[in-house]
Amino acid sequence: MSPADRYAVFGNPVRHSKSPWIHAAFAEQTQQSLQYRAVLVEEGGFTAAADAFFAAGGCGLNVTVPFKTDACGYADELTPRARLAGAVNTLARRGDGSIIGDNTDGIGLVRDMVANLGWQIRGRQALVLGAGGAVRGVLEPLLREQPARLLIVNRTAEKAAALAEAFSDLGCIEAGGFDALQGRQVDLVINGTSASLAGELPPLPARLLNEKSCCYDMMYAAEPTPFMRWAALHTAWAVSDGLGMLVEQAAESFFLWRQQRPQTGPVLAELRTVIAGGS
Ligand code: ATR
Repeated sequence: MSPADRYAVFGNPVRHSKSPWIHAAFAEQTQQSLQYRAVLVEEGGFTAAADAFFAAGGCGLNVTVPFKTDACGYADELTPRARLAGAVNTLARRGDGSIIGDNTDGIGLVRDMVANLGWQIRGRQALVLGAGGAVRGVLEPLLREQPARLLIVNRTAEKAAALAEAFSDLGCIEAGGFDALQGRQVDLVINGTSASLAGELPPLPARLLNEKSCCYDMMYAAEPTPFMRWAALHTAWAVSDGLGMLVEQAAESFFLWRQQRPQTGPVLAELRTVIAGGS
């Protein structure tokens, strides 16, 4: 196999990553010959590992926690959405050897909500929980969908305010701590906190949802997350985890690398059964 067909995901930890499985499925579906591995990179070792990968003929990388900011600094050029996100999840080597950095997380989230789930963002009252790197990475594509208002709420309210300020040109954004949710109802809630990872639930008021509210957790697991269980209990109209976002961001990376857009539906359906089976 030609070295030009080598791809990888760099992360720490990375053993749990579903990206090799997803890209193998895309490659099979589009009849492309490529190799995609998960690589555990030591903290502080991103640049050396990426240099070695590309020097050996590697063609493209996905980058996951905790290296998305390192990857942003590594790229010779950034796409506008990566620059706004301040984080890169996809690197591609171009013909002249230079490296372009992109961020496909936000478009992955929006595609999953709008195209796969059929949820409307435009004109709706949207709430994003959290103000860390994961949220920053998705704000621009979300705002491009033109929600009536986007409220960013975070445990540390100052971080939410800083994000609202940074993205204020792109739409109507408000920010606050969880106390800002008292007395509010919203149409769309996106959980971008890492609370689900710890089995925790952000402090949400009981009357936050209306009969048409949709709730999305950017995390996924074999079982519904605490946020998804809360949403179902509070009669959300629709609830989803972030598995579709994972597949859609991968499809966008695949497109950047291979100029072919895989069909995501069958891959997502199969991945869902793989995860339910615990593998
Ligand atoms: P990531 O890259 O996943 O965004 P991060 O930058 O560490 O990770 O951000 C984690 C986010 O989850 C933050 O918004 C954090 O809130 P703080 O900024 O106040 O720390 C939020 N978070 C983590 N655990 C939480 C919990 N139990 N309840 C509410 N928010 C939580």
